[in-house]
Amino acid sequence: MPKAIVEIDQREWSAPATLEDPEERKVDALEMGAVLFFPNLAFAVGASERPFISPSILGKSKNVSFNPSTGKVGGATCTGDALDQLGGMMRRFSDSARGLLEASLPAYRGKFALGRASFRPAEIAGRPSSWRKDDTRLHIDAFPTTPTNGNRILRIFCNVNPDGKPRTWRVGEPFERVAEKFAPALKPPVWGSSTALWLLRMTRSRRSEYDHLMLQLHDHMKRDTHYQAEVEKTDCEFPPGSTWMVFVDSVSHAAISGQYQFEQTFYLPLAAMEQQRLAPLRVLERKLGRQLV
Ligand code: SIN
Ligand code: FE
Repeated sequence: MPKAIVEIDQREWSAPATLEDPEERKVDALEMGAVLFFPNLAFAVGASERPFISPSILGKSKNVSFNPSTGKVGGATCTGDALDQLGGMMRRFSDSARGLLEASLPAYRGKFALGRASFRPAEIAGRPSSWRKDDTRLHIDAFPTTPTNGNRILRIFCNVNPDGKPRTWRVGEPFERVAEKFAPALKPPVWGSSTALWLLRMTRSRRSEYDHLMLQLHDHMKRDTHYQAEVEKTDCEFPPGSTWMVFVDSVSHAAISGQYQFEQTFYLPLAAMEQQRLAPLRVLERKLGRQLV
């Protein structure tokens, strides 16, 4: 089995790929389902930003969200200057994450779309949740309101915990095997439902059959307590001051515990991949024998 975690000793967000550390290795590892782990890549929180590193900035949401294209901050209770300053911190993280992606994976440069960023100051462990929203169960990411039409979901995470506590994850089996197990139970969408959801503005664009199946896959995995208990998995600890990057639409993951994390989402078109056959869209199409987008 390929390595679940590939360590990269890089200390700057925009340090270019070096010769000893060939770019191909990172792209291959990432596309094959590894977590690229940068143990020494920290995001610096300024002294004046320190008050934001607290769950008390949250309103009803579990995360603060940031839209890099509009600069809008959501989910926080701050107003006025404090809100501007929080937006500044989010912007800095978003820029850093984009810099990291461009510098460490030149193959994807200029090809991805920048999604939202988030800051997650709440402790995960012990948080009450419905099974569907419970990210302590292994799952792949699929977004109900944002269909990807087969584009990849790549995320960069960074732990900024000031109390020395890691973010603890679990990584499950490769997507190929997840698909093997659950594909037979996946049902095609009800005729007309994708148009209805779109017209009712419940999705940002039409939900493709692929998106429909990925949402079901997410649910099947989380609901299956036997699967959760029995599946082969690796525990990983991401200490404060570390960063990691992963295709969350294909790598089974669960966040078990931890508090204070930044995240930036990217969407990558299939055509930008080195090995398209590894994309969940292609894996599911092979298993089901039909086109899904
Ligand atoms: C998730 O995507 O399942 C949650 C990741 C995290 O917050 O660490
Ligand atoms: Fe997830």
